[in-house]
Amino acid sequence: MNTSELRNIAQRLMAGDKGLLAMDESTATCNKRFKDLDIPQTEEYRRKYRELIVTTPRLEECISGAILYDETIKQSTANEILFTDILIKKGIIPGIKVDGGAVPMPAFPGEKVTEGLDGLRNRLSAYYDMGARFAKWRAVIAIDNGIPTETCIKVNAGIMARYAALCQEAGLVPIVEPEVLMDGDHTLQSCAEVTQQVLHLVFNELYEQRVYLAGMILKPNMVLPGLNCPLQANADDIATATIECFLNCVPAAVPGIAFLSGGQPYALASERLNTMHTRFDDVLPWVLTFSFSRALQQPALEIWKGDDKNILAAQQALYHRAACNNAARRGAYSPDMETQQ
Ligand code: 13P
Repeated sequence: MNTSELRNIAQRLMAGDKGLLAMDESTATCNKRFKDLDIPQTEEYRRKYRELIVTTPRLEECISGAILYDETIKQSTANEILFTDILIKKGIIPGIKVDGGAVPMPAFPGEKVTEGLDGLRNRLSAYYDMGARFAKWRAVIAIDNGIPTETCIKVNAGIMARYAALCQEAGLVPIVEPEVLMDGDHTLQSCAEVTQQVLHLVFNELYEQRVYLAGMILKPNMVLPGLNCPLQANADDIATATIECFLNCVPAAVPGIAFLSGGQPYALASERLNTMHTRFDDVLPWVLTFSFSRALQQPALEIWKGDDKNILAAQQALYHRAACNNAARRGAYSPDMETQQ
């Protein structure tokens, strides 16, 4: 393991006021988003959409790394420049989603386990040769009656630590993404307790499997009430619950925490990240930034709708969301920015 190289990549990903752009939707997820907007669900339309993203002017001002999908890392622009080459030229580090998705966990109704370890060592080395310098693996934890079980969390944590160790062996910085889902009517407090338990078990496994903490990035959920919880919370409560939870569980050796957006409305995701910075910047031992997919891309996708004549407007919308989150990362976001495009 080349620890100094891993540390260097992780630090570059977390540098400046930038964040990560998750554009690693699986074919099924990308097609689902396209279907909702009547966009043809073909490889060519997925390619066109990803070309729109990577060629967005000035994206590199706000984005340090882009997470790609297996199909996307091999794709090129219409004039045959690999997406990875475009990103590298802009100074954006290419990353790659390497998990195989979450499937039902046998004998544990309502719970899921993420697959994809088989053959991972060879896939990681192939992705390294294609230019990737970091990877991502997502586990999902649902809150409902009697779940999550400790067994489900432990199984996912063990698999995630094995993934992280294999990434570091291959020279890729692992992004470890244990997502506590927003679905359900659970309270903010319940999400805080589950997120804390998950992070403790994940960091325990990372330690057991000798993962180099200075060469990884954590991609967690914010601590939020469930979408159907009658008692919703304001940005202050969410920031306090989230930061207290992380200070309890995330070692200071970890260089950065980059949130997923998880289906939050995009402006709220920016506001909540911003509040964490305005309230807690002086006590944070790690960089705190974003690694959003929907909360960066959704307005752009809705403007594009598969039509070439909308590309420029869609790129402006993507840049605008990236700039809002870039401001949030330094505590300089204001909801007024939403009307200034
Ligand atoms: P969202 O920001 O849409 O939750 O996606 C983040 C991600 O990478 C999911 O794995």
